[in-house]
Amino acid sequence: MSRLRRVGMVLARAFAAALVLPVPSIAAEVPAASAVVKPAQPVIASAHRLATEAGHRVLADGGNAFDAAIAVSATLGLVEPESSGIGGGGFFLLRRASDGHVVFVDARERAPMAATRDMFLDANGQPIPERSINGPLAAGIPGLPAGLVHLAERYGRLPLERSLMPAIELAERGWPWGVKNQAMIGWRQRVLEADRGARALFLPGGKPPAVGTRMRNPDYARTLRRLARDGFDGFYRGDTARRLVDGVRRAGGIWTLEDLAGYAVIEREPIRFRYRGAEIVTAPPPSSGGVALASILHILAPFELDQMAPAARTHVLVEAMRRAYRDRAIYLGDPDQVRIPVDLLVDPAYAAGLRAGINLERATPSELLPGISARPGSDQTTHYSIIDAEGNLASVTQTVNLPFGNGMVIPGTGFLLNNEMDDFSVKPGVPNAFGLVGEDANAVAPGKRPLSSMTPTFVLAPDRVTVLGTPGGSRIISMVLLGVLAVLDGQGAQAVADAPRIHHQYLPDTLSAEPGALAPDVVEALKAKGHTVSQGERNWGNMQIVSWWLSDGRVEAGFDRRWKSASVDEPTDGAIFR
Ligand code: DON
Repeated sequence: MSRLRRVGMVLARAFAAALVLPVPSIAAEVPAASAVVKPAQPVIASAHRLATEAGHRVLADGGNAFDAAIAVSATLGLVEPESSGIGGGGFFLLRRASDGHVVFVDARERAPMAATRDMFLDANGQPIPERSINGPLAAGIPGLPAGLVHLAERYGRLPLERSLMPAIELAERGWPWGVKNQAMIGWRQRVLEADRGARALFLPGGKPPAVGTRMRNPDYARTLRRLARDGFDGFYRGDTARRLVDGVRRAGGIWTLEDLAGYAVIEREPIRFRYRGAEIVTAPPPSSGGVALASILHILAPFELDQMAPAARTHVLVEAMRRAYRDRAIYLGDPDQVRIPVDLLVDPAYAAGLRAGINLERATPSELLPGISARPGSDQTTHYSIIDAEGNLASVTQTVNLPFGNGMVIPGTGFLLNNEMDDFSVKPGVPNAFGLVGEDANAVAPGKRPLSSMTPTFVLAPDRVTVLGTPGGSRIISMVLLGVLAVLDGQGAQAVADAPRIHHQYLPDTLSAEPGALAPDVVEALKAKGHTVSQGERNWGNMQIVSWWLSDGRVEAGFDRRWKSASVDEPTDGAIFR
């Protein structure tokens, strides 16, 4: 173990003591409360028009943003099955308008109780290719259904059945297969072919449906009806639970009925801090997003980023990212199973120390800091953002991890299982599908939640409330960071979603950039400082962002426009107003 790592562990233990202190009750103030004009209309941005419409339908039915979130979540699970669903998990960041209460509903998957630290290694201690990605061992116990039940019981205004109804009806009536569905299935066809349930649902006649094909999923409708009728027990006990456990075990998996019955969502206190006059409210562990975001923004605090030349600005952004992702790799995991020095990592004084190590002229090689290696992620997972007419906020990122999760649909259930087990560090230093490395803090263990990068976020600025987030694996944190900076620079929601991005995740020691993010002279200047620059050919993520201007109640949505033609007759420009 390196000396730095040992020091870190000592620090981790010391700071963990602070974490047991009682936490104050939390209400995030929308600034200048007296001058606030309520939103002129509700606004939803999601990755699919039909999901956005489902949310609006529930709002029109008397629901609030949290009921609408249930509708959007359940509909995305149907029409964007490659990205998320009730066989997966998610994080719900909520703010209640009436009292400013903010809460982070952790509906992340958990490892089954029979999971073991070395379950993805062979007898020689080497990772078994794809075992944490495809098939029954790759799936964690789903959290999303429990999250939907929790939202309805604690925060919604409508019975769960009413909020689930748009998704139920759509599953029965059918919806058109889209360009994005089609693009993603190509990536996972081999795995889907290997599973009877997945084949029946997604490869009718043995091949991917043509774009525009009307898809129906009556099994999904039945599963949702059971959830609507019986709440938690409608998924985690009884018929659905039995089918899942039988199906997973028949395929060689290790789920038990107790794993399902024992699942629980956890309400956690969001990470909250101030940056440039705004309060940022964001995801705590088991997401790494909020801790990294706080660390990066604290490092950046003294820099006048908007006054800096592009190369200098990019340089300090990258050096801040490098350091925060380094800490992610070492310290972060499930806070219920490992001690995480959260208070230290989000402390401005700690960030000042990290900042002091930045040379403004030279890149710091990542190998000077402890850690490991990387491959890029693909763009799955999904995010949506809601502001209702009362000012309730919902920022939700949900996922089955890689496209089409583990590729298994247990017959009769109508949904894919996740492959979130790959978000664990299967072995210290061995990168996962996103090239992220980890250590003991994120090792596999029974009942543990794998570390996530999903970063649903609120930016509560004096003049404007913004809800944002995106998929994108390890790049989620960088994308949300750049989104927060752009919001605070005064950019409109669509401009924020459109802005090309850069990313650095410590290892590999590469500054990656979307097409058009860096001008040729800026690339040269960054190389001269010692950066390895990789300019990609494609864009990342799928940002969905909404803003509400407090002075006049105006609302605005921005969405990732690349998927505009995602289906023939249903464009997925998720931003719709009523
Ligand atoms: O929780 C996480 O960080 C990942 N499972 C998210 C995966 C993702 O965003 C895939 N898209 N690129």
